[in-house]
Amino acid sequence: MQDLENIVTRAAAEFAAASDPASLENAKAKFLGKSGELTALLKQLGSLAPEEKKSFGQSINTAKQQIEVALDSRRKDLEQKKLESRLSGEALDVTLPGRGRSRGGLHPISRTWQRIEEIFGSIGFDVADGPEIETDWYNFTALNNPENHPARSMQDTFYVDMKDSGGLPLLLRTHTSPMQVRYARMHVQQFRDKAAKCPPIKVIAPGRTYRVDSDATHSPMFHQVEGLWIDEDISFADLKGIYVDFLRRFFESDDLQVRFRPSYFPFTEPSAEIDLQFASGPLKGRWLELSGAGQVHPQVVRNFGLDPERHIGFAFGSGLERLTMLRYGIDDLRLFFDGDLRFLRQFS
Ligand code: PHE
Repeated sequence: MQDLENIVTRAAAEFAAASDPASLENAKAKFLGKSGELTALLKQLGSLAPEEKKSFGQSINTAKQQIEVALDSRRKDLEQKKLESRLSGEALDVTLPGRGRSRGGLHPISRTWQRIEEIFGSIGFDVADGPEIETDWYNFTALNNPENHPARSMQDTFYVDMKDSGGLPLLLRTHTSPMQVRYARMHVQQFRDKAAKCPPIKVIAPGRTYRVDSDATHSPMFHQVEGLWIDEDISFADLKGIYVDFLRRFFESDDLQVRFRPSYFPFTEPSAEIDLQFASGPLKGRWLELSGAGQVHPQVVRNFGLDPERHIGFAFGSGLERLTMLRYGIDDLRLFFDGDLRFLRQFS
């Protein structure tokens, strides 16, 4: 009997000391297992007298039940402990502030680009896109700018080594004007195939352009938007109307003046620079050069595949950086390309 009580006490103590299910099962084996202490006592039963057998048998059973109850309760304890530690380990502090996801914003040049597409799109201009690596023919020759013509040096550019281009003179386009020729020829071709009358050409072509130039107001890579409207009766007056309306909408102001100043481009005749002056604000009273423009030269109309006796119209080319700088009051063009978030964040 003494033995039994002692076994129950020790079993309960060992179970209580087991800190995880594996050690609890080991402790159980020590008492209830095949070669456990209680099992060993049971084996002795056979050698006892019948009356002793009965009462000793009962005591062993009681002891066994007590051990099982202790075991069971320790198992539950351990499970509960495990659950609690999992819950506290995975606890969320719902009062912590969120880990905000930062959103990117559009680059100011992209904003200008989008605005221009919206404004010209709303008055029926198509939007075209073309290659930045251009042939010498589209960039210069087709635009009435023959080889060795001094006007070419106004636009010094980056040339692709002829060895790499298979002998074809290739360059990074110096302006978006080659898109006039690309778009017009494609357009004319489409309607020639269908034997239909060629409808007006009315397009803008925004994109990247390149020149060997770098200072506060020039970057070797910059953006232009080309505009072209050709029909049978498009005049300088249409250019003026469209462009002034564009500027008013772009700058959200009627408080501006526009001036057409005579200029020269090989691909327009007559040619003009379009200047802008604000009637108020920090830039008040200064004429700012915005855009080259003009009536498309008859030779260029011919290169479009059209008859200059019948087709006439205008083209313009404006710098996106310039428009953006004026709209936001930015004085150094290099800020656009530095990737400085302190600058860029102001636009998002
Ligand atoms: N391509 C000219 C430039 O980059 C601008 C221009 C475009 C002038 C269309 C006339 C007509 O300077």
